[in-house]
Amino acid sequence: RVFPEASNASEAAALEIATLVRSRAAEGRTCVLGLATGSTVVNVYSAMVRMHREQGLSFANVAVFVLDEFLPMGPESLQSHVRFMNEHLFDHIDLPRDQIHIPDGNTPQDELAEYCLMFENEIAELGGIDMLILGIGRTGHIGFNEPGSGTDSRTRPITLDAMTRIDAASNFFGVENVPRRAITMGVGTILDARRIILLAFGEGKASIVARAIEGEIAPAVPATFLQQHDDVEFFLDSAAAANL
Ligand code: GLP
Repeated sequence: RVFPEASNASEAAALEIATLVRSRAAEGRTCVLGLATGSTVVNVYSAMVRMHREQGLSFANVAVFVLDEFLPMGPESLQSHVRFMNEHLFDHIDLPRDQIHIPDGNTPQDELAEYCLMFENEIAELGGIDMLILGIGRTGHIGFNEPGSGTDSRTRPITLDAMTRIDAASNFFGVENVPRRAITMGVGTILDARRIILLAFGEGKASIVARAIEGEIAPAVPATFLQQHDDVEFFLDSAAAANL
């Protein structure tokens, strides 16, 4: 879906989330959301906050799994995804804290494998992800699944691509401060979500968006694996859709 402006796409994505949250609440069921970080999704989250404040949209029946976190990363750090999600969403809505799951960037090296398995199990115990909100990196990553990530990959530690670290440099006051690794949901974890909305805005994303949608399905561009999912939509502004 191509929108005139990014703000229209963000509003539309927030509305899709709100509709699902309400319908799950009406059924007395938990709504399991998977949420990305990054500049692209900021206005989706601000629209959700506004719906909470102005329309009384409740997130009491929602569980959230955040896609990824830098490694190592403490929750109080400026760049942590914990902090990002708190500031943009969690501090402003009635989502119970014990229903929030964010990969722990402080997990010791020798506990990572077990930790990632536990994260996967928590998703499974809640019945899987109902709706996943994604951005896309210029490498074609979804979550932090960098080129080379296979379709059957699960939550795991990953080495970040050089381009991803450059893109994150301004948040870290220099590329040398950007962590070299992250924990991310796998491509397989992402594809297990029942519904996926990927947002991308601006001309800087136009070429990777075209490769993701029209390119050959291959690990070189992990976002191409979304072509194999039967309920995925890209919400784009006209600049990000320019190469389609
Ligand atoms: C980040 C995140 C992704 C995000 C992407 C795009 O590093 N791990 O989940 O979608 O890069 O970020 P942005 O929206 O800032 O362009």
